[in-house]
Amino acid sequence: MINTAAEKRKKEEFIEYLENRYDEGYHNAALMSILHKAQEIFGYISTEAMEETSKHLGIPTAHIWGVVTFYHYFTLTPRGKYVISVCLGTACYVKGGKRILNKLKDELKIGLDETTEDMLFTLEAKYCLGCCGLAPVMMINGEVYEKLTTKKVTEIISGLRKKEAASVSVG
Ligand code: FES
Repeated sequence: MINTAAEKRKKEEFIEYLENRYDEGYHNAALMSILHKAQEIFGYISTEAMEETSKHLGIPTAHIWGVVTFYHYFTLTPRGKYVISVCLGTACYVKGGKRILNKLKDELKIGLDETTEDMLFTLEAKYCLGCCGLAPVMMINGEVYEKLTTKKVTEIISGLRKKEAASVSVG
């Protein structure tokens, strides 16, 4: 782990949440809110989080695993602080979406569905973000970046890297 103190704090926050979230007779309702909380805290659902949840609710880990893999919202692998969704839908594709994707791969040195080693960026593809008129587009943590060029991609990524470097040196 990159920051063990931060990881420890996250784990404590999760355990505290679990201890206050035992709803006798309502295991399934409790399970969903616990899994949402785990993903909110850790950014993904770890095996450890599933085991802790299983102990607290008294339900098998296999059942929890089934729920986690059923819902697309949940992810089993750690994701970066910035999740970049590049659009490869038809409108974006014809306007150079593939070129944008390749530029992102180049800048980040990762492939699709991968996360950078410093845990800053995760790269994924989407097949229409609902703003085709602004193609080609990508979304970073819910914010849309429109009419992209490879130059804009470089600027956006370097802007985020600078922002992170500044927050590390301040904090
Ligand atoms: S195809 Fe990219 S936003 Fe619709």
